Amino acid sequence: MRKICIVTFGCQMNKLDSELAAEALQDAGHLVVADESAADTVIFNTCAVRDHAEQRALSRLAQLRTRREADDGFRLGLMGCFAEREGEALLERLPYLDFAVGTRQFMRLPDVLAQAERGRCGRFGEADAPSPGIDGAHPRSRHSGIHGYVSIMRGCANRCAYCAVPGVRGGETCRPAAEAVREVRALAAAGAREVTLLGQNIDAYGKGGEWNLARLLRHIEETVPPDAGIARIRFVTSHPRDITRELAATVAALPRVCGHFHMPAQSGSDRVLRAMRRGYSRAEYEEKLAMIRDVAPTATVASDFIVGFPGETDGDFLATLDLVEKARFQNSYIFKYSPRPGTLAARDLEDDVPGPEKRRRNLALLEAQNAVNRERAAELVGSRQTILVEGVSARDYSRWTGRTAENLICVFPAPGNGGIKAGDLLDLDIYSATPLTLFGRPGRGAASARCG
Ligand code: 5AD
Ligand code: SF4
Repeated sequence: MRKICIVTFGCQMNKLDSELAAEALQDAGHLVVADESAADTVIFNTCAVRDHAEQRALSRLAQLRTRREADDGFRLGLMGCFAEREGEALLERLPYLDFAVGTRQFMRLPDVLAQAERGRCGRFGEADAPSPGIDGAHPRSRHSGIHGYVSIMRGCANRCAYCAVPGVRGGETCRPAAEAVREVRALAAAGAREVTLLGQNIDAYGKGGEWNLARLLRHIEETVPPDAGIARIRFVTSHPRDITRELAATVAALPRVCGHFHMPAQSGSDRVLRAMRRGYSRAEYEEKLAMIRDVAPTATVASDFIVGFPGETDGDFLATLDLVEKARFQNSYIFKYSPRPGTLAARDLEDDVPGPEKRRRNLALLEAQNAVNRERAAELVGSRQTILVEGVSARDYSRWTGRTAENLICVFPAPGNGGIKAGDLLDLDIYSATPLTLFGRPGRGAASARCG
């Protein structure tokens, strides 16, 4: 039996994989611990989408090298997208790395760990058999507090020029609706109040078959009643091409499905969108946005942008800036382009926007989104918002935090023993706001803490 700590650098999909891996390891008799110093085995689960996470994992691995060399019982491992891409080479290059498993092999970690007692080893690529944890899971520990993830799709069928995901996670596969429902129920039984359905391109769920995302959401809403515990249902990430009016209408109609779309635009320039192979034009993106706002008027939309994509001119960037100013996103996540091995852009296009220029564009776009955030937040002062209470604020222990269905972060004074607890739905009267945070007080009048 080993004491294992899994450290995650990456997206929600990675976090979920860490939780699934933890379950598989526990089932095999190991102990999974949160504290790295209490562990005799440390596994880094690392993203490959941008090079930042990889660099962090490599430096953390190097830091643990002395411990590995001094202690013969200590083991170091790697999982996730980075492991899939580079694991084999790293096993050769880093003598202190004991094992590595790819994105479709991590449920085999218990075997790999046993093998690593005899020598360094790795497993990558397609799994040779369905893995019980992914393909028919029983999420026991798969949620942190009130929140749980359910992956309804794995991999991605798109080929965006910059993106490492299809290469490291493989093609798109959808999981049956019945399994998704089973997992939502299991999470509810384990105490989750909010579930997030995950897929790289979630609007393509069931494409061409009898299911689609709207139908799946209705099915969950019908078959998992509110008194089972789930108060909120979210889904990410939306591809602008596949989002439908039916989905927006479903989001608007179903009370527990949150009115929040994460629909990355990536650029506001048609030329860059084409080079990125995104499969839509700026006008088509704006039409989707208008459709969502028409059909689900209270919903918010967040976006991702890449600045400094190969060939991006000043003019292209100004088009992106213009989109951010006009679209009034709830938030934008902005990334500086970095070429990822195995992608079309890395193979065919020169990374020709200089670093300082990427930084300048990054800051300018951030500032533009920040101005939007400030205005949007100010408009909400004086409103009443319903949040799902998450608990004490990590930044300020005298406050608690929660989120609205539209994904706005709200903070309020710590309730003392006023009977408010994590997982409650709570009405807040908003009295002040910063660009990304609303400040509220529990609403007077109506019973303000609800639990259904
Ligand atoms: N360089 C910079 N950002 C990237 N993203 C994906 N690939 C790259 C890359 N090569 C960003 C996209 C995506 C988010 C998850 O990461 O904006 O939506
Ligand atoms: Fe997630 Fe993509 Fe990073 Fe993998 S490469 S962790 S799927 S963001």
